[in-house]
Amino acid sequence: MLALAGCGGSQNALNPHSHPATDIANLFWVMMAVSFGGLALITGLLVFAWVRRGRRGVGGDAGDPHPGEKPSWFVVVGMGVVFPLMVIVALFIVGNWAIINVTQAPAASSTAMTVDAIGHQWYWEFRYPGTRAVTDDELHIPVRTRVNLVATTSDVIHSFWVPALNRKIDTIPGEENRILLYSNKVGVFRGQCAEYCGLQHAHMSMLVFVQPKTQFRAWLKRQAAPAAAPKRALARRGEQVFLSGSCSSCHAIRGTPARGFVGPDLTHVAGRTTLAGLTIPNSRSYLARWIAGSQHFKPGNEMPDFQLRGPRLQALVAYLEGLK
Ligand code: CUA
Repeated sequence: MLALAGCGGSQNALNPHSHPATDIANLFWVMMAVSFGGLALITGLLVFAWVRRGRRGVGGDAGDPHPGEKPSWFVVVGMGVVFPLMVIVALFIVGNWAIINVTQAPAASSTAMTVDAIGHQWYWEFRYPGTRAVTDDELHIPVRTRVNLVATTSDVIHSFWVPALNRKIDTIPGEENRILLYSNKVGVFRGQCAEYCGLQHAHMSMLVFVQPKTQFRAWLKRQAAPAAAPKRALARRGEQVFLSGSCSSCHAIRGTPARGFVGPDLTHVAGRTTLAGLTIPNSRSYLARWIAGSQHFKPGNEMPDFQLRGPRLQALVAYLEGLK
C-alpha cells in the first residue's frame, strides 16, 4: 500500500490521458496479472509438494517409482517448458503488435500541428513551426488534438517523456524522432528527461499545459509576438542591464537586439509558472535569487555568477517580470 501511495500526481504512467498511454498502462496490468498468475501457480505447486511429502516410501525409497509407474514427462516438459514458452510468446505478441504499433510515430497527414522539442543541458526548448513562438520547460497544446512532436537535441542524448500522454522518445544529436502528443483532457501534466544527460539530469523536467482550443490559440498568438517594450523607468534600466551586460550573449529576447541561443529564450519569461527546468517557481524573489546565484539551485548549469547585486539586479528583475 505504501508503494501504491507513491503513484499519483500528474506524472503517472498508470493514470493515462491518451490512447497510446492507455494501451501502455493496460499492457502493464496484463503483464502484472500474468506474472502474478505464474507466481501463484508455482507457489501452489511448491506448497502442494510440501504437503504431500513423504506420502510414499517412508523407509527412504521416496524416489523409486512403484512397479509399473513412469515418471510424468508430460508434467515436466509440458508445465516446465511448453507452457512458459506459450505464455512468453503470447505476451511478446501482445506487447509488440498491439502496443508498439499504437505508439509508432504518427503519420504526418494524421496530425493537426507540429511542436519541436529540443533538449539542452538542462532545459527543454519548444518551438511552434509556422509561428515565431519559443517557450522553455513549459509546453502548451490544445486538447483533443493530434500533435506531431518532433524531438531533437542541441548537445547530448536526452529523452522526452510525459508518462500520462505517451511513451518516452530519445533526442539524438543530428536526428529527429517523432511521437504523437495527444490529451483527451484539459490539465497540466508533468514530464521528465528520461535519459541520463549530466549533472542536472534530475532537474530537467517539463510541464505540458493542455488547454481548450480557443485558449490555446490566444496563448500561441501572445507567445509569437515580440516582447513588449518596458514602460516603467526601473524596467527600462533593467533592459539596459540586460542588453549591455552578458545576459544578451546567451539569451534571446525577440524584439530586442538580444539573440543569444545558449540559454532559454526569455521573450515571454514572465508568462511561465516555473524556472530552471521546474527547479524553482517563477516569482520575483526566486527570479532574483536565481540570477544572483543560479549555481546554488542548479550546480553545473551554464549560467555563471555575474555578481549582479543591489539596484542593477532589482532593475533586471523588474524588466524580466514585465515580459508577460
Ligand atoms: Cu536531459 Cu536527462
